[in-house]
Amino acid sequence: MTRTFRGRVSRLTAAALLGTTLLLPSSAGAAAPFPYQDPALPVATRVADLMSRMTLDEKLGQMTQAERGSVTAADLTAYRLGSVLSGGGSAPNPNTATGWADMYDGFQRAALATPLGIPMIYGVDAVHGHNNVVGATIFPHNIGLGATRDPVLVEQIGRAVAEEVSGTGVDWDFAPCLCVARNDRWGRTYESFGETPDIASSLTTIVTGLQGPALGGPASVLATAKHYLGDGGTTGGDDQGDTQLSEAELRAIHLPPFQAAIQRGVGSVMVSYSSWNGVKLHGHQYLVTGLLKGELGFSGFVVSDWNGIDQIDGQSGFTAAEVSAAVNAGVDMVMVPTAWKNFLTLLRAEVGNGHIPLSRIDDANRRILTKKFELGLFERPLTDRAWTPTVGGAAHRALARQAVAKSQVLLKNAGGVLPLARDNNKIFVAGKNADDIGHQSGGWTVSWQGGSGNLTPGTTILQGIRAAAGPTTTVTYNQRGTGIDGTYRAAIAVVGETPYAEGQGDRTGSMSLDRDDLRTIATLRKAGVPVIVVLVSGRPLDIAAELPGWNALLAAWLPGTEGGGVADVLFGVVPPTGKTPMTWGTSVTQQPINTGDGKTPLFPQGFGLTY
Ligand code: GLC
Repeated sequence: MTRTFRGRVSRLTAAALLGTTLLLPSSAGAAAPFPYQDPALPVATRVADLMSRMTLDEKLGQMTQAERGSVTAADLTAYRLGSVLSGGGSAPNPNTATGWADMYDGFQRAALATPLGIPMIYGVDAVHGHNNVVGATIFPHNIGLGATRDPVLVEQIGRAVAEEVSGTGVDWDFAPCLCVARNDRWGRTYESFGETPDIASSLTTIVTGLQGPALGGPASVLATAKHYLGDGGTTGGDDQGDTQLSEAELRAIHLPPFQAAIQRGVGSVMVSYSSWNGVKLHGHQYLVTGLLKGELGFSGFVVSDWNGIDQIDGQSGFTAAEVSAAVNAGVDMVMVPTAWKNFLTLLRAEVGNGHIPLSRIDDANRRILTKKFELGLFERPLTDRAWTPTVGGAAHRALARQAVAKSQVLLKNAGGVLPLARDNNKIFVAGKNADDIGHQSGGWTVSWQGGSGNLTPGTTILQGIRAAAGPTTTVTYNQRGTGIDGTYRAAIAVVGETPYAEGQGDRTGSMSLDRDDLRTIATLRKAGVPVIVVLVSGRPLDIAAELPGWNALLAAWLPGTEGGGVADVLFGVVPPTGKTPMTWGTSVTQQPINTGDGKTPLFPQGFGLTY
């Protein structure tokens, strides 16, 4: 297979694979028959030439994104579709890196088989690693990366994710989420880098990691700043709810990370499901076109969220009016996973009757095609399998372990019970999250909601503890704490939340530990042994009442596959340096609680002990 610098097979090779006689671009020595096929020409020139050759149907197809399970390769060719996505957990069989690359190339070949050979762009939610792919490296979720306050590390993580994503052919990542989570009840709090915009703004380095210094370089993947605008500010932390703020507050709290991402050249922006003062973002022309594209000068393209256009009128099933409202508001690429044929019919009609001006269609196409040219998709449309071995490779797992250690926040350490001695020790480990890759990874892991058990290769926190302990140290594990006695020198309870994603993670009632966790900790305490609680959760939990009975508390957040990083901190191999990116309330009744709001927290934003 032809090796290319960017991680894609050359068009020539693609032609050979297709068995078609594609015309050579000038870079291959022969003159390109059409200017848009000539990589030596400026992108703007290529876009203009290509658009001059496109039919209306080809332009409408470019604006349409279908889900892989609802579209065939033949559909892609027949309807000239511009993009395919994998929803959370939507994977080929086998769900391996090679299986993904084969799937990607199959769709791409179908896109190239159209008269103008416009390559499709494939999007996934690689939000903490290439998390749909079994065997991929799963990094800490954003709340843990926020605790590191380390822009350089986060850029390195973006680069590693881009390599694994490229190794499967995929060229578009619906990440980073730049939400500023203001109410910890929100089920997407863990997708936030922190409760104040400064943290997310500083960590937009992940955009550079994903895209590279410029699009089209080695393993360059289009990044997505999401969800624009105010998704983390809804009243009550209600997912997809209403953000009731003045414009000044909306701009001050939620806009800066998007400004930072735009300054870094982010190629796409995804619109939020939420509303601003009662108006759905998916139909908000002032915010999407006036502010984002106009005032901020965003030159990439805007993608809707999953069936987001269907929410504009509050009724189920999208309508012609909703299609017009979204496209006229400034949505360029419409994520219509299953009903994409209906979308195309309505879009064509709304252009035909003048409700959507052709100038808007052309603007959307210009934005989308510009990014496809800049990514190099026209020259290198197929996967370069040189990146495939990076998926779940040792180098990325080592980086992830480093990130896990740096994300740990030590909130209590009475009597210096931590760090644990590695030798001549006797340690009891308990808790439902101690030996469970699924639990320590959280949502968006192999499946949309995540799950329990060893659903992908990795190191559990217990396995990390066992590996870190020396040969003269005993480590005993029982999930409920059964069997502990006074001969143990320390007990570690790894407790917290089980996986969830989006609205299914909204907590409208208690935010305390569940009964099993509380019983487990009580069992450990009854033995009279110092208890160290390791909290695996997507947000601060309501633990103030129990904290006095604990000797130590370590917030591990959602560390991902490399649980060894938690053990590194427990044994002092790496001292804890994390700082909580969220204010930690004394009670759920304080929600929302954020820095500067005058409430007295249990731990302020930025708190974290070390040794
Ligand atoms: C989801 C999420 C969004 C994700 C998209 C595609 O509903 O809101 O973050 O990128 O759909 O999976």
